[in-house]
Amino acid sequence: MELTITRTTHPAEKPADPRKAGFGTIFTDHMFEMDYSPEQGWHNARIIPLENLSLHPGAAVFHYGAEVFEGLKAYRTAQGKVQMFRPRDNMERMRNSAERIQLPDFDADFMLEALTKLVALDQDWVPSAPGTSLYIRPVEFCTDIDLGLHNIGHAKMMIILSPVGSYLSGGLRPVSILIEDHDVRAVRGGTGYAKCGGNYAAANRAAAKAEQKGYDQVLWLDGVHQRYIEEVGGMNVMFKLDGKIVTPALTGSVLPGITRRSCIQLLKDKGYEVEERLFAVDELIEALESGKLEEAWGCGTAAVISPIGKFCYQDKAYTIGEENGPTAQWLYDTLTGIQWGSVADPYGWVYPVPEKP
Ligand code: PLP
Ligand code: COI
Repeated sequence: MELTITRTTHPAEKPADPRKAGFGTIFTDHMFEMDYSPEQGWHNARIIPLENLSLHPGAAVFHYGAEVFEGLKAYRTAQGKVQMFRPRDNMERMRNSAERIQLPDFDADFMLEALTKLVALDQDWVPSAPGTSLYIRPVEFCTDIDLGLHNIGHAKMMIILSPVGSYLSGGLRPVSILIEDHDVRAVRGGTGYAKCGGNYAAANRAAAKAEQKGYDQVLWLDGVHQRYIEEVGGMNVMFKLDGKIVTPALTGSVLPGITRRSCIQLLKDKGYEVEERLFAVDELIEALESGKLEEAWGCGTAAVISPIGKFCYQDKAYTIGEENGPTAQWLYDTLTGIQWGSVADPYGWVYPVPEKP
């Protein structure tokens, strides 16, 4: 498929320091768009100046939430080059998410090419201040104008780009987590493993409750027993107990994080035993009470590695520590070192972005 490029004639001013602007509030000059119809398949692939969408108010995405998305980043190295981190994994996960919602499948190679060209075109927007990157947000959604519940016919794909600092305010610091014991985010057979907007909408009430109580994020328990730990709002979660790393198994209701996968590899190669298994909240509480829990952290593209300093479960608070734990700090340094190009990448995770087209 042909990909056309229309350049902006009005480039916007780049932020002096994206760390001051929150996460995902500033956007670059261009976006990618393409459309799907049953007759034409994917067509009209284009990179254009960033613009508002015009959609019919009857478009199904507004009513029935048929939408999936991705999140990945481009990083500026000390040599001034731009590189992405495992972008093919994001494209493959997006195909899996689309399959769950029955949005049209797409060619991952073509999407990777489009994404690379878009980032290459807007590469002057990739910030260089410490801890900053260009967040890449692909999204696919249903544009059928139809209030009936039908198979999806028409869809749109977009990619937008945003220069960002850290997702959680305050940079790398221990975060506080409220363990949610009422609402659930995902259930067996549901959409937990897919990156679809509905999962995040289902999380809003618990997130608001956590914020009200002064906690940064929610830790979700499984939707059947409300006993097994699943993940945090926008990140997977890992624990260090007795020198071993434990992380919830991918049971279908947990997002298979690309950062999680990368951390498991880095930890194993460092010599840690990593257990991917069911991890019950009572086991966590017991480990917190007995002092067996050495460290806990969240991991995700936006959140990077977020050490966890405090949990609250059923109105009881448990403190782990005020400082970043050594394993979380080592993971942060190693992972971001690979991403920013200061640590060698023996895994082939780094994906260079070429010069401007
Ligand atoms: N879990 C949820 C619910 C997320 O939104 C994210 C963020 O993308 C993750 C886990 C971590 O996934 P990844 O490391 O691929 O960003
Ligand atoms: C990401 O880390 O890319 C996400 O999509 C998480 C979101 C809460 C920003």
